[in-house]
Amino acid sequence: MKAPIVVSDREETATRLLASPARKSYDPMVEVDWEAPIPDDKFGLTPEWSTLYGTALWEEMTDEQKVEPTKHEAASISSVGLWFEILLMQMLLRDVYGRDKHSRHVQFALTEVADECRHSVMFARAGERLGMPSYGPHPMIHKLGRIWGGFFKGANAYASVMAAEEILDMMQRDFMKDERVQPLTRTVSRIHIVEEARHIRFAREEVGRRIEGAGWVRLQIERLNTAAVVYIVMKSMIRSEVYENAGLDPKRAIAEARSNRHYKDTVRTSGSKLMQFLDSVGLVGGPSKRLYQRVHLL
Ligand SMILES: [Fe+2]
Ligand SMILES: [Fe+2]
Repeated sequence: MKAPIVVSDREETATRLLASPARKSYDPMVEVDWEAPIPDDKFGLTPEWSTLYGTALWEEMTDEQKVEPTKHEAASISSVGLWFEILLMQMLLRDVYGRDKHSRHVQFALTEVADECRHSVMFARAGERLGMPSYGPHPMIHKLGRIWGGFFKGANAYASVMAAEEILDMMQRDFMKDERVQPLTRTVSRIHIVEEARHIRFAREEVGRRIEGAGWVRLQIERLNTAAVVYIVMKSMIRSEVYENAGLDPKRAIAEARSNRHYKDTVRTSGSKLMQFLDSVGLVGGPSKRLYQRVHLL
């Protein structure tokens, strides 16, 4: 099939994007005030992004009680982001292994790995500073990632990387602006948003290039692989342990979070730009649709 998005030459894209790190790169170890106090009354994330927001349980909690679960949820999200960044760094490094190192494409990919390295340290340090557990995905998914990380490649790799980056981006845009949120979460979100913008652009164009000319069979494989990764990332994002660790009745909290209409609508609305892109390159269709529906992106 023909890529419907405007895809420029690979070297042209990389040259343009390489100019961006030169202008906007942050060293979180210097940029973030790691010694700043952690206020008791600030949320870990924008309350409207909490999986409990709007539930009966949420309404029963006092404002102080609402803060703790949002801190655990924020820590869970960024720990899963960190896990995924490690997988994507592996993918990028495998992708450039056989390519010409003088090419701008390889140099941008290596720059992206450097960005992601700093992000991962930043997420780890932020979770630690907020006194949160080091969540990461479910142990089973973590194990699978070890194997899957070894052959993750092609259009679907870039599509799912872009999807994970967009999903994090849509939340962090709200966290960054929100004065009710922990200053640390806000700073981390701001740095991440700026540096991810070029990664998202890079991945979008790679998806367009790599999907171009795909026959029916390959398109089905790319669709299913992309949807499966997006499904796993979305499902992993909030570990069920967060509720108990925040001092809530886990059974009730999990049940109410699962049926939370507000949360599902928020995901669907915020994810519409991502889904439009995936659809425009032909990656949404067939059984993959069911997977997106199950994580409320469709
Ligand atoms: Fe990142
Ligand atoms: Fe990224």
